[in-house]
Amino acid sequence: MKSKRKIFLYMTVVFMFVFYVLMSLQMPNTEGEPNSGHNIVIVEGWDFNTTRDTTHYVLNTNLSAHIWPEHFCDLNSFLLVMVCSGPANFEARSAIRDTWGHERIILGNNVSLFFLLGETTNSSLQYDIMLESDRFGDIIQERFIDSYNNLTLKSVFMLKLVSSYCANSTKYLLKIDDDMFVNMIPVVRMLRDRNSTTDLLMGKLICRARPIKDTTSKWYSPRYMYPHHVYPNYVSGTGYVMSVDVAEKLYKAALKTPIFHLEDVYTTGLCAKRAGVRPKNNPLFTYQSMNYDVCLYMRLYTAHRFTPSDIRKTYTLLKDSNVTRECTYHRGRSNLSVNWLMNNILKVNKPNKNKCE
Ligand SMILES: *[C@@H]1O[C@H](CO)[C@@H](O)[C@H](O)[C@H]1NC(C)=O
Ligand SMILES: *[C@@H]1O[C@H](CO)[C@@H](O)[C@H](O)[C@H]1NC(C)=O
Ligand SMILES: *[C@@H]1O[C@H](CO)[C@@H](O)[C@H](O)[C@H]1NC(C)=O
Ligand SMILES: *[C@@H]1O[C@H](CO)[C@@H](O)[C@H](O)[C@H]1NC(C)=O
Ligand SMILES: *[C@@H]1O[C@H](CO)[C@@H](O)[C@H](O)[C@H]1NC(C)=O
Ligand SMILES: *[C@@H]1O[C@H](CO)[C@@H](O)[C@H](O)[C@H]1NC(C)=O
Ligand SMILES: *[C@@H]1O[C@H](CO)[C@@H](O)[C@H](O)[C@H]1NC(C)=O
Ligand SMILES: *[C@@H]1O[C@H](CO)[C@@H](O)[C@H](O)[C@H]1NC(C)=O
Ligand SMILES: *[C@@H]1O[C@H](CO)[C@@H](O)[C@H](O)[C@H]1NC(C)=O
Repeated sequence: MKSKRKIFLYMTVVFMFVFYVLMSLQMPNTEGEPNSGHNIVIVEGWDFNTTRDTTHYVLNTNLSAHIWPEHFCDLNSFLLVMVCSGPANFEARSAIRDTWGHERIILGNNVSLFFLLGETTNSSLQYDIMLESDRFGDIIQERFIDSYNNLTLKSVFMLKLVSSYCANSTKYLLKIDDDMFVNMIPVVRMLRDRNSTTDLLMGKLICRARPIKDTTSKWYSPRYMYPHHVYPNYVSGTGYVMSVDVAEKLYKAALKTPIFHLEDVYTTGLCAKRAGVRPKNNPLFTYQSMNYDVCLYMRLYTAHRFTPSDIRKTYTLLKDSNVTRECTYHRGRSNLSVNWLMNNILKVNKPNKNKCE
């Protein structure tokens, strides 16, 4: 009786498999291929005939920046922070300057910070950016149109600048978006406590992710942009850190790797793979927005989706020794104990063992 049922189940599975194979032969997967006769939704700005040759965008002139700060990597820095910022995000830049981006020396190490922007066609916005640059001297504006689908170009320019100007003066590069909160002291401590200053690419690792075929998704990726079924493992683009030797390797690889519009998949996945660099996971680089206790932010490296006022509020709380003392002595400030939260974050962020091996 039992074995009959087993055979029946087995036959069903085999039949379904054969059916599936026949169906897929019948209807070849032409989604995303040019000339297939279907209406393929293109990635805005990256049509079939748009060149994806990286050198076309970054090598046309050697120093191509529109706005160039007076001091870029001319002082020895342990850590260079490059904040990838949108041209109109004045408030975010201001909040970062006033809060976590303010300190130039952390645990005795020099830290520098610059904002990397692309071009805007809005001349009044451009004028405001130039005033901002005159006032703060921390803006770099490169020669490409700033848009979501051009974020990859922004990162390649970042790698170019770091390779060209920072290789002898800087140890580490932190790439971060302008809607992030960064807890600088633990980041610098982690870097300082390493036994070497090379061979590092670290962030929140994402393993065996598949290209998203939903055309309404921000991360939509048709076959003509990426023909394989799985992305190489990569770290979330919201914030990642690398040693400067790795930045040079990734830049060299980028010059030979056709542009792919999703910045993190491209830089820390495709280029890293080509360069033979393995991205490492550290779950303290979080990219969720977490409306959590300040005691938690004391221990994380990064957190995502912060408005400028969230950045200011969280920083003020972290600087308040009364609050942080309370975190040390009374772990359960809110109903959720911070240890419990930390364990949960580490669990949620722990890459699925099977997927990451
Ligand atoms: C690229 O192809 C589109 C149609 O798919 C066409 O409208 C456009 O003019 C082409 N651009 C160039 C530069 O050939
Ligand atoms: C750019 O740099 C390369 C090598 O560093 C050099 O060969 C080339 O002449 C430079 N081009 C310009 C336009 O300065
Ligand atoms: C830090 O920067 C100062 C100049 O601002 C420089 O004199 C010093 O050597 C730097 N420290 C290190 C460790 O590079
Ligand atoms: C141009 O930028 C300014 C801010 O500098 C903004 O007020 C204005 O709405 C923008 N114009 C357009 C057409 O986006
Ligand atoms: C990206 O930048 C290039 C160079 O400025 C520009 O030609 C292109 O239109 C931009 N693409 C998008 C999607 O903004
Ligand atoms: C770093 O130093 C080496 C040797 O002194 C030199 O050849 C190279 O051009 C320097 N690189 C940068 C980016 O300054
Ligand atoms: C650095 O090396 C020391 C001694 O070899 C070791 O105890 C320590 O765990 C290492 N630190 C890291 C971050 O690997
Ligand atoms: C910290 O608490 C003490 C005593 O309760 C109080 O006097 C002090 O003003 C508080 N400091 C801040 C920054 O709130
Ligand atoms: C915390 O717990 C108390 C009692 O258990 C409850 O009344 C309160 O609503 C809880 N607060 C939050 C923020 O969950």
